[in-house]
Formats: sequence, C-alpha cells, structure tokens
Amino acid sequence: MITIDTKDITTQLLQQYLQAAIAPRPICFASTIDKFGNVNLSPFSFFNLFSMNPPVCIFSPSRRVRDNTTKHTLENLKEVPECVINIVNYSMVQQVSLASCEYPKEVNEFVKAGFTPMPSEIVKPPRVAESPIQLECLVQEIISLGEKAGAGNLILAEIKRIHIKESVVDENKKIDPLKLDLVARLGEDWYTRITKESLFKVEKPNTQLGIGIDQLPYCIKNNSEFSNNEKAQLANVNMMPAQEMMDYAGKISMAVVLKIKSALKNNDTQLAWKIIETSILHQ
Ligand SMILES: Cc1cc2nc3c(=O)[nH]c(=O)nc-3n(C[C@H](O)[C@H](O)[C@H](O)COP(=O)(O)O)c2cc1C
Repeated sequence: MITIDTKDITTQLLQQYLQAAIAPRPICFASTIDKFGNVNLSPFSFFNLFSMNPPVCIFSPSRRVRDNTTKHTLENLKEVPECVINIVNYSMVQQVSLASCEYPKEVNEFVKAGFTPMPSEIVKPPRVAESPIQLECLVQEIISLGEKAGAGNLILAEIKRIHIKESVVDENKKIDPLKLDLVARLGEDWYTRITKESLFKVEKPNTQLGIGIDQLPYCIKNNSEFSNNEKAQLANVNMMPAQEMMDYAGKISMAVVLKIKSALKNNDTQLAWKIIETSILHQ
C-alpha cells in the first residue's frame, strides 16, 4: 500500500494521483462572456451536479499549478455571472481539447476550435450548437479555495433552462445514455467514452432494506465461488431466507453455483434465489 500525506508531496504529483483516482469526471464545457462582450469557451472536469432544488452545478477553474495564474473563465464570471454549461459527447472531444489551449483573452475559442455559437434564451453567453445538452445558468456564488497555485474556485451555477437535442432521447423523451455518447476525463491524457460495453445496471436498494451479506445462508456466504459483488446482489433482497435455508450446513453443487451466477449476471436476483431455494430445500 502506498500511503501519502498530502502535505508531503508537490502539487504536481498530488494532481497526478488525485486526478487519476477521482475519475472519470464529467466535462463542463463552459461558455462565458466578459463585460465588453468577448466570448470564452473552456472545458472543466472539476464539475458535477450538487443540488436538485434548486438545481445547482459546481465547476472549478483553478489557479494554474504551473504559475498560479487565473483562468479567463473565472475573470469573465466575476464580471458577468452567467454561463452555459455545454455537455460534451465523443464527436466533440478533440475540439473541446483544442479549446483548452491558453489563447489570449480576446480570442474566441468558438472560432479557434470550430464550434457554432447559438444565441441563449436567458443568459448572455452563447450555447454550443454541436453540444447535445446545453444548460443555461446564473452564477449564484463564487467560492475561492485559496490563493496558492492549484487552488480551486467553485462556481455555483444554478441551472435555469435546459436544452436537449431530440437525437439523444428515447421514445419516452428520456435521455438514452447510448445515444448521448458521453465522454469523461481521467488522469493525465486519459478519457473514457460511454459505450454499450461500458454500461451496466445496478438495481437500486430503494426504501426496502437489503437483508445484508451477514444474513445470507452459510452455503452462499462462505462459498468462495461467489464474488463479493455476487454476494451483495443476493443480499440486496428484503425477504429473509427461510430458516431451513439458514440452518443448512451442506454445500451446493458446482452446477447450481453456475446457474446462480448466470441468473445474477442477467440481474435476475429473484431467479437466483429460486435456484438456491430449490437446491437447498430439495436436498
Ligand atoms: C477535458 C479538460 C478538462 C479540464 N478541466 C479543468 C478543470 O476542471 N479546472 C481547470 O482549472 N482547468 C481545467 N482544464 C484546463 C482548462 O480548460 C484550460 O486551463 C483553459 O485554458 C482555461 O481557459 P480560460 O483561461 O479561457 O478560462 C481542463 C482541460 C481539459 C481539456
């Protein structure tokens, strides 16, 4: 185990470890405007959704680790506290990276990176027409996390209007993650893309309490054929197994184990429990 006290390493090294560990991060492609009307467009992966009522996103244009300079986005937001957060999909990712170049303040990254500006409806900065989802936001507060190189500046952006392209929704007007084709940032130059292969579902426990791994029958709990993920899936039901199953001290056969695993792989926990029940109760 590598153990690091954050005060003992350089900010550069800290950045490498933490950006690789706290990943993947969604990308906020923020358009802003200064008091003279100069438009700016830059990506920020220190970004997430933090509140639903009011709907608030936070992103952080940090002080540069290299030279402690501040970002144009931050300066613009202090002058005009409005922005559009444009969601980034795979077809935009190289242009988004290009827009992160440190162009002089008066240079418009819409032009440099080849994006199409589209008028917003309630804020001054334009939207990115190519982006599948555009969030018009009013900035409620800017919180500085320090004056040293690498310090963040939290932009608390309240989402006022959402624009979603029809091409990324399903027949019920819900966002389809495969149609959206999101990308996210990891450490160094790594990115990831949401694909069919990278997506999977985990059933929500919701208000019903799962019985817990401690309450699984012995032949499951102490069976090394099952991974901890599989045991947790089985333990996420709210009905306690019958006492007869709990008391059972024997083993279950490999054929049964494989059947249970296959049901769990298909997210069919009920079927998995049926197989366990049948195999124990019909011994
Ligand atoms: C995908 C991506 C994510 C980024 N995330 C951040 C971030 O969260 N915070 C930050 O300060 N810089 C981030 N950067 C770097 C800024 O985009 C870059 O410093 C840019 O020049 C800032 O532009 P501005 O000075 O016009 O605001 C990121 C760059 C890329 C390509």
